[in-house]
Amino acid sequence: MQSSKSVAVLTGSGVSAESVVPTFREAQTGLWARYNPEELATPEAFVRDPRLVWEWYSWRRELVEQAIPNSGHEALAELERRIPSFALITQNVDGLHRRAGSQSVIELHGNIRRSKCSREDVVVEPREGDTDVPPSCPSCGASLRPDVVWFGEALPRDAFAEAFDAARNCDLFLSVGTSGLVQPAASLPFEALHSGVTIIEINPDETPLAQHADYALRGRAGEVLPVLLRAAYGG
Ligand code: OAD
Repeated sequence: MQSSKSVAVLTGSGVSAESVVPTFREAQTGLWARYNPEELATPEAFVRDPRLVWEWYSWRRELVEQAIPNSGHEALAELERRIPSFALITQNVDGLHRRAGSQSVIELHGNIRRSKCSREDVVVEPREGDTDVPPSCPSCGASLRPDVVWFGEALPRDAFAEAFDAARNCDLFLSVGTSGLVQPAASLPFEALHSGVTIIEINPDETPLAQHADYALRGRAGEVLPVLLRAAYGG
């Protein structure tokens, strides 16, 4: 880390777990243990019941708005200030990395705090005073939807190309707080691996990446990342 000139980091919901934002696949507490993604996170679900989908995302948006970035987010923002070329690739839609001060953030799965027109696919804010659920697009009248990637949808093309590029061309890749089960994000550390990049994984649990990583650090992001930074840079 001390000698790295170029670092790419992939984060997942585990990095926000200590900010009390729920993860997805953990038994009992994960969102997909309590809710059916097919009813809430697919284009078909939105066509079937736009009100249900909008309200579920409004609930999650409120959780995110109350959340505060934790020491893991802060350590990654600090790491960016020390590395000449840095990319923070996140699957999270909660915006906590930017709120912690990270600048080069690539949001692979969108951002829950934004809305977009379901017909025109452009980011728009609901009109003030719009009481429809979901609100309507101010320009064409179609329903607004959260600006997040649903199952069965493609990732934002530029974001994925940039992430791929960063994974291939860095000299150190960190995978933090992700189960590594959702493609194509899960392929990024393997792209790095094939390019000979050193891989560090941080996760309290076993993942498919662990056996391939140069270092698999078993622990919470909010604990391990600050220790790693202190070890590398002192303070
Ligand atoms: P998962 O719920 O699949 O995985 C969360 C990971 O975080 C697990 O491997 C946990 O062991 C780990 N974890 C839990 N607490 C942690 C902590 N304090 N520090 C570090 N790691 C911790 O969530 P993701 O991998 O983010 O996509 O899931 C990927 C995608 O699947 C999400 O972006 C979402 C979901 O469906 C969409 O909504 C498109």
